Amino acid sequence: MPRKLYIRTIGCQMNEYDSQKMSDVLFAAEGAERTSDAADADILLFNTCSVREKAQEKVFTDLGRARELKLARPDILIGVGGCVASQEGAGILERAPFVDLVFGPQTLHRLPALIAARRSSGLPQVDISFPEIEKFDHLPPTRVEGATASVSIMEGCSKYCSFCIVPYTRGEEVSRPLDDVLADVAELAQRGVSEVTLLGQNVNAWRAPVLRVGTEVGADAAVTPDMDAHAGSAARAGFALLLEYVCEIPGIERVRYTTSHPREFGDALIEAHARLPKLARHVHLPVQSGSDRVLSAMKRGYSTLEYKSIVRRLRRACPQISISSDFIVGFPGETDEDFERTMKLADELRFDGSFCFTYSARPGTPAAALCDDVPFDTKNDRVRRLQAQVDGYAASVSAGMVGTRERVLVTGPSRRDADEFAARTSNNRVVNFAGPRHLISRWVEVEITEARAHTLRAVVAHPTRGHAPDSETASERARTQTHAG
Ligand code: SAM
Ligand code: F3S
Repeated sequence: MPRKLYIRTIGCQMNEYDSQKMSDVLFAAEGAERTSDAADADILLFNTCSVREKAQEKVFTDLGRARELKLARPDILIGVGGCVASQEGAGILERAPFVDLVFGPQTLHRLPALIAARRSSGLPQVDISFPEIEKFDHLPPTRVEGATASVSIMEGCSKYCSFCIVPYTRGEEVSRPLDDVLADVAELAQRGVSEVTLLGQNVNAWRAPVLRVGTEVGADAAVTPDMDAHAGSAARAGFALLLEYVCEIPGIERVRYTTSHPREFGDALIEAHARLPKLARHVHLPVQSGSDRVLSAMKRGYSTLEYKSIVRRLRRACPQISISSDFIVGFPGETDEDFERTMKLADELRFDGSFCFTYSARPGTPAAALCDDVPFDTKNDRVRRLQAQVDGYAASVSAGMVGTRERVLVTGPSRRDADEFAARTSNNRVVNFAGPRHLISRWVEVEITEARAHTLRAVVAHPTRGHAPDSETASERARTQTHAG
């Protein structure tokens, strides 16, 4: 009987991605099959983010429940992974001594070895090291379900924003080699994936040696548009070039990426949005605050003026682009005036979606030494106001889409109604519509009929027209946009 694996994921897309990898690793090593029922599992893994305190506390609540299961079935294995594991390390065993494995985001590929060591030694195993990029060389191929997939192109972060735990839990920024990323995407495409999301904490910080490009993926393509200005060397390719190559891979029809950082959002990347029709018309670009004083205390490395200039140039390059953002409200010392500046920035830039967080001091970060002086209620009021404002803009963009046509990949049944489909528009909105089953994993053209609070509704306008984007030139796309607009 194959062993059953239950994984509880709390956190961002990176955590989701890591959970998928844990599942792939344990499937390859011991045929373990995923189950959604913890009570039915032989291995229980908790993959939790520690970026905000709430998520961190959740893991200990979950572990309390897992303990009950282990009391009934002592042979089950309980593991804690992700950023919480990196941060707490062996401390997790002090709080929860029944835990068998503690592993970090960079050591998840060692799970089979950790499990074997746990069994042979009878002792809990802890491995939260950062063995550079070794992980990717030891991961089995991604198991593909459907026509969308994510590919991690870099790990960690070296920005050290003063509030953020990520550089300490995931380690410094390390980019994967260009040819490894391209080989992964090409393999996914061969297995039917046509929409790919490139993942990383700061994908646009990705840099890799051009010299490793394989001939089959276009070594002769122009490498000049995106030479790494920062490295001062013509031997390193940047993120815009990677995007260009990924868009060239046969079978890949839409490319998304997340998250990008304003500091490395240069001209090459902005031009890529004008040049590459397969690039989704959506950028998630965290700004965090609209006050220069706060941005500087956060050590973000840009001013509001610089941020606004990126948005202006992006919109000039791709007029229909949707820009969403992250905000932190209630950072130490944030005054009413600082917050009003954030509201003003959001108003000026009309973000099309946001994640608004209340500041939470993370142990070991520089900001944790500052006095967390914004009262709890003030933080909550601010977060509500800001989120409501951005939601209002997003709703007006959605309303403006009614009557337009969108080319979308049918990903599967709708979450609410199994008789309907779900898909994601280029500007990152979930759209639901009815249609025959054979449309799953196909590209179709839909007409938007209604804008709801968080989703769109549509009808299939053309069941096949969505399918030939390779021939869609920039000018054709511009025509579609004009029509859509
Ligand atoms: N790489 C992204 C960027 O450019 O900023 C951020 C990735 S971070 C893991 C995701 C989001 O969590 C951040 O954009 C920030 O808004 C939020 N965040 C990080 N640390 C936080 C803290 N201490 N308190 C509240 N929110 C936090
Ligand atoms: Fe965190 Fe700043 Fe990096 S928010 S993930 S340290 S860009």
